[in-house]
Amino acid sequence: MSKQTQIRRTTVPQIAARKGGEPIVSLTSYHAHTAAIVDKYADFILVGDSLGMVMHGMDSTVGVSLDLMIVHGRAVVRGTEKALVVVDMPFGSYEESPAVAFRNAARIMKETGCGAVKLEGGARMAETIRFLTERGIPVMAHIGLTPQSSHVMGGFKTQGRDEETWALHEADAAAVTEAGAFAVVLEGMVEPLAARITGQIAIPTIGIGASAKCDGQILVLEDMLGLNEWTPKFVKTYGNLGPAIEQAVSDYAEEVKSRTFPGEDHVYR
Ligand code: KIV
Repeated sequence: MSKQTQIRRTTVPQIAARKGGEPIVSLTSYHAHTAAIVDKYADFILVGDSLGMVMHGMDSTVGVSLDLMIVHGRAVVRGTEKALVVVDMPFGSYEESPAVAFRNAARIMKETGCGAVKLEGGARMAETIRFLTERGIPVMAHIGLTPQSSHVMGGFKTQGRDEETWALHEADAAAVTEAGAFAVVLEGMVEPLAARITGQIAIPTIGIGASAKCDGQILVLEDMLGLNEWTPKFVKTYGNLGPAIEQAVSDYAEEVKSRTFPGEDHVYR
């Protein structure tokens, strides 16, 4: 029996069918080992381009390349067997034209084995979302605070503080739904606007710094584990791994320096 017939991954239609139902659980992951843990609990795992900042020390996601996304996407697919894996399309890989977006999204799907891609932008990306979905590439949209546009937005700013802007965000949500996106991330959006959009559209909304009323939630794994020195204000930390790792490294350094580090027979079990 082939591996494919044994393994049942969550599918794109299964995520879409969760609209208004049991909340969708998701987290980011960039490596095989953390992905294997997350896989036990998450409906989908996002290989987010936040990896540029979280793993590679960049100060924004703008510098992330397609090749980097593919390397991490492949690792996450290898480490998992249950969750749908969604890979972010990085800045510059899809905005130019629907045809360029298709070529790069197809490369991501072929070279990682993921089940869907995510791209940022609302009404302005609708034509591209339609082009991809009509050609067999499931798309998760991402509206509200879109980090790849942080230079245009003037930083990472919560969206919708001014009620007069709500109509634009609502139009973005309607446009990506109509274009065929199977779900949409609402990032950094005031709570009543995110709740309102969730009630307006027919696809699941996945909140991050948005509203508990969204159809699902996503967090950056390293943020919720307490691994990053700085985390956005809205993130609840469910672990405190930064200090735990530091303690382990310092214990190790101490043992090496004091020559109490265990001998070979203890190390290779
Ligand atoms: O890149 C990322 O991790 C994301 C999530 C924050 C939604 O897009």
